[in-house]
Amino acid sequence: MYRTKTCGELRLANVGESVTLCGWVQRTRKMGGMTFADLRDRYGITQLVFDESTDSALCAEANRLGREWVIQVVGEVSERQSKNKNLPTGDIEIIVRKLVVLNESAVPPFTIEEQSDGGDDLRMKYRYLDLRRPCVRKNLELRHKFAFEVRRYLDQQGFMEIETPVLVNSTPEGARDFVVPSRMNPGQFYALPQSPQTLKQLLMVAGMDRYFQIVKCFRDEDLRADRQPEFTQIDCEMSFVEQEDILQMFEGMSRHLFKSILGIDIPTLPRMTWADAMKYYGSDKPDTRFDMKFVELMDVLKGTGEFGVFNEAEYIGGICCEGQAVYTRKQLDQLTDFVRRPQIGAKGLVYARVGEDGSVKSSVDKFYSPEVLENLKQAMNAKPGDLILIISGPDTLKARKQLCELRLEMGSRMGLRPKDKFSCLWVIDFPMYEWSDEEQRLMAMHHPFTSPKPEDIPLLDTDPASVRANAYDMVINGVEVGGGSIRIHDAKLQQKIFEILGFTPEQAQQKFGFLMNAFKYGAPPHGGLAYGLDRFVSLFAQLDSIRDCIAFPKNNSGRDVMLDAPGFIDQSQLDELHLQIDLPKE
Ligand code: AMO
Repeated sequence: MYRTKTCGELRLANVGESVTLCGWVQRTRKMGGMTFADLRDRYGITQLVFDESTDSALCAEANRLGREWVIQVVGEVSERQSKNKNLPTGDIEIIVRKLVVLNESAVPPFTIEEQSDGGDDLRMKYRYLDLRRPCVRKNLELRHKFAFEVRRYLDQQGFMEIETPVLVNSTPEGARDFVVPSRMNPGQFYALPQSPQTLKQLLMVAGMDRYFQIVKCFRDEDLRADRQPEFTQIDCEMSFVEQEDILQMFEGMSRHLFKSILGIDIPTLPRMTWADAMKYYGSDKPDTRFDMKFVELMDVLKGTGEFGVFNEAEYIGGICCEGQAVYTRKQLDQLTDFVRRPQIGAKGLVYARVGEDGSVKSSVDKFYSPEVLENLKQAMNAKPGDLILIISGPDTLKARKQLCELRLEMGSRMGLRPKDKFSCLWVIDFPMYEWSDEEQRLMAMHHPFTSPKPEDIPLLDTDPASVRANAYDMVINGVEVGGGSIRIHDAKLQQKIFEILGFTPEQAQQKFGFLMNAFKYGAPPHGGLAYGLDRFVSLFAQLDSIRDCIAFPKNNSGRDVMLDAPGFIDQSQLDELHLQIDLPKE
């Protein structure tokens, strides 16, 4: 037997027992005639003691041990003189009587401790060493528990986990595909699924009734902290359901996850329409951990004074930051620089401070009468000591997005976005379409299989841009953790939606014929959703980036620096696939 105990389980109750442990040497210290070593495995750290006075040969061997050597020790559990309260095993140590070096280790490129001296790139290159650090390992443990509880809940609700293929075909709409050349079909390519969307719908036609899958999805998009080119979805679909059934089922799943993993009881999820989310938060994924809702100020400030910027604006909106009138001129200038950053793109920022006497002093005082400023204070419901921040612009959507960034920034500065506080909601009634400047056409906001709200179907002919969808997102702390919709199960309606999206009947048949044909054979009403597992887990683990809960993530250029992927392939492989590489000359 390699070991009888792990490095995390010995306590005072075990004192006197003879044990065999295995693990990695985290560090050694020599103090007088004693050598101490910290032995680490997945379960914890245990202190080893080698005493020169009882066995000098053994102690000499221990003094040879280097960081990350893999060893086996046999010894006796003993109570420690100076206990370490920060360590679960801190009351005991092992008086070693036998030491076996199972494997030596090269000096690791960074320290493998909670606080490592290794930078991001280095730790990613040696990710297998990084994963030895307890703080990183902990995230994988949480991820495991999360996936396990998802399966437990869905199994109890009668869902069946069904695998779908990874080599599929490219579908239009959505993000860019990753493609794989086919040797047996020269010149043809598979695409990796961006999600198993159409396959799960076919499983509903096949009568599977309740499907789920914890599944890898692939999207060739620009990366951000909450995006990876390959990520994992908890993908779900149900037959004979309406939107309400789905919201209830998955609100239940979230409640189960919060309770079983974090021990938190979450309240009933509020529901906010997409229109309200945009109006009050300037985002379809509002962070509702704090209030600070937008107040529209067109009536108060447009045409009521000489300020040209407001008089020409299509949107003027403000937020009221409680108790922040103490902001100095310099701090306000910094905030103005913040909203002017190219990523945000506002022209500027107007502010008003409410003094302790209730008077209002603003950066545009000279353009407005005291009555107008008083109206502003009333409209914003501002109290003495509050700071009002105002953004305006010629494009309502853009100005709201800018105000959204400012609101989030102020929320962070004011400490209103703690990671251990959770605020969940459903955003519902998304529009069916959004206009794409790039493509100069309407695009499906969710995907082309999403059903319109029945009462909006007549508008498909007259005003498609105003049609609302039976689509919903679950949002937690300003992160879209999941989203889905009720699907179209009628081939004729599906055909019409494809037409509005600009597909000719031939193109629609070529791209989606398999689905529309299936719908001819009795498709049940159905709907579903998918969660981003990485995003959900990283919220639970309070991480800044989803990378930290993925064992082997990609970096911001989509590279796996450990595997050094992607890479070039041999000429013989290219020949077999009839591929020629034509790199731009730079
Ligand atoms: P959607 O495209 O909204 O819907 O994706 C569902 C959820 O997946 C997560 N997600 C991502 N996570 C990490 N990296 C990415 N690049 C990434 N892209 C998406 C998000 C998102 O909410 N088939 C539909 C679902 C349905 O209609 O049932 C779909 O894929 O958390």
